[in-house]
Amino acid sequence: MAGIDYTERIPNNVNLSENRRLQRALEDWQPKFLEWWKDMGPLGFQAKDVYLRTAVSVDAQGWANFGYVRMPDYRWGIFLAEPEPGRVVNFGDHKGSPAWPEVPGEYRGVLRRLIVTQGDTEPASVEQQQHLGRTCPSLYDLRNLFQVNVEEGRHLWAMVYLLDAHFGRDGREESEALLQRRSGDADKPRILGAFNEQTPDWLSFFMFCFFTDRDGKYQLASLAESGFDPLSRTCRFMLTEEAHHMFVGESGVQRIVQRTCELMREHRTEDVRKHGGLDLATIQKYINFHCSVSLDLFGSEVSTNAANFYTMGLKGRFEETKKDDDHTLKGATYSVADLVGDRIGTREEAALVSLNERLRDDYVADCQRGVNRWNQVIRSHGIDVELRLPHRAFHRAIGSFADVKVAPDGRVLSEAEWDARHHDWLPTAEDQAFVGSLMQPVTEPGRFASWIAAPPRGINGQPLEFEYVRLA
Ligand SMILES: [Fe+2]
Ligand SMILES: [Fe+2]
Repeated sequence: MAGIDYTERIPNNVNLSENRRLQRALEDWQPKFLEWWKDMGPLGFQAKDVYLRTAVSVDAQGWANFGYVRMPDYRWGIFLAEPEPGRVVNFGDHKGSPAWPEVPGEYRGVLRRLIVTQGDTEPASVEQQQHLGRTCPSLYDLRNLFQVNVEEGRHLWAMVYLLDAHFGRDGREESEALLQRRSGDADKPRILGAFNEQTPDWLSFFMFCFFTDRDGKYQLASLAESGFDPLSRTCRFMLTEEAHHMFVGESGVQRIVQRTCELMREHRTEDVRKHGGLDLATIQKYINFHCSVSLDLFGSEVSTNAANFYTMGLKGRFEETKKDDDHTLKGATYSVADLVGDRIGTREEAALVSLNERLRDDYVADCQRGVNRWNQVIRSHGIDVELRLPHRAFHRAIGSFADVKVAPDGRVLSEAEWDARHHDWLPTAEDQAFVGSLMQPVTEPGRFASWIAAPPRGINGQPLEFEYVRLA
């Protein structure tokens, strides 16, 4: 069961050949996916050999196989985590009843929306990152970008499998639509805001992997708790891939911070721009931006949708089964951030409608752990600067703070104060132009751009000077 059948046209561990209708639907979608990939996937590298990992099994051992692949030949397929015998619905009104192998009829529309919304983010990020290959800081980083891209492509496959297998004609139409929307397109945008932003440079890319892929981790983790068992098993396997994306983000920013600190010490200045580095103040602005747009992805602080998803048993909390309460949350409360007078405080709210905020809390704590590790690097250089997450009310477009102006430290501001100061907190056109000016491709094996330190080790035990992408 854990083994993946690679002799099939669509690699899978779901006995696809035994379901002819589904197999035909997916085989019909496959060339359209490839067309999308060639159109919207990494520009300029489709014919190059890339040292990529491919899943060969969904169990803990022998997860991945490394080798040179041309991206259009990547074996995208359908991989679900092992079923848990006797699994039950662990929360909500159906708590204790057997997990559903099929979609409960009354939840069909809601579940489809959840899956489509998750699915839409996967191709969106590939589109956002389409141009980055041309300005890679090293072959090592180029390879990591492509690894993330092909895995996001596979996550799209994962969601399309659920749609085609369980939602009939509607599901097939949604599968097509997932290939038709485009990130940032005025007429056919992607569903969620952060996935219509640009990822124009590698600082943005690493921040995106750190903050926005981490939203993915928390969404997938709460869908992995779902009573709809195929969704749970799909998301559990996706989470193993997501971990690598966050590694790319966190280690990427960490290497930038390290290089910045080296330049600060060497030249005894905070202004490392003229020495080919990214100053900490600019890094802080990018943190502020990417964190705030990612916080929006969790939705409104108070949400009856979130309550319904939970009560229906479709979307749980992060680590639902590890929590020690009744798992129905009826009558429970949770404290939610809110505007109280002219400052930001908290108020108690029914726990069920506060589930978005609770998930955001888990997310913020996780982000903070990463920022702490970046700050350790700064401290280890004897530099007295701290990077900080912006206050959760800063620069929000969704929820209670969408209409308030708030500083990164949480002070509520007048419009005039905001207008006077926001250049200090968010990347300006000049900042972006400067970051862009540093983005000169470095493609000699083992070499790294001036603004980023080399990683401590290569991929899969290979040396740093390994030819991770064959450009010749
Ligand atoms: Fe993903
Ligand atoms: Fe991801």
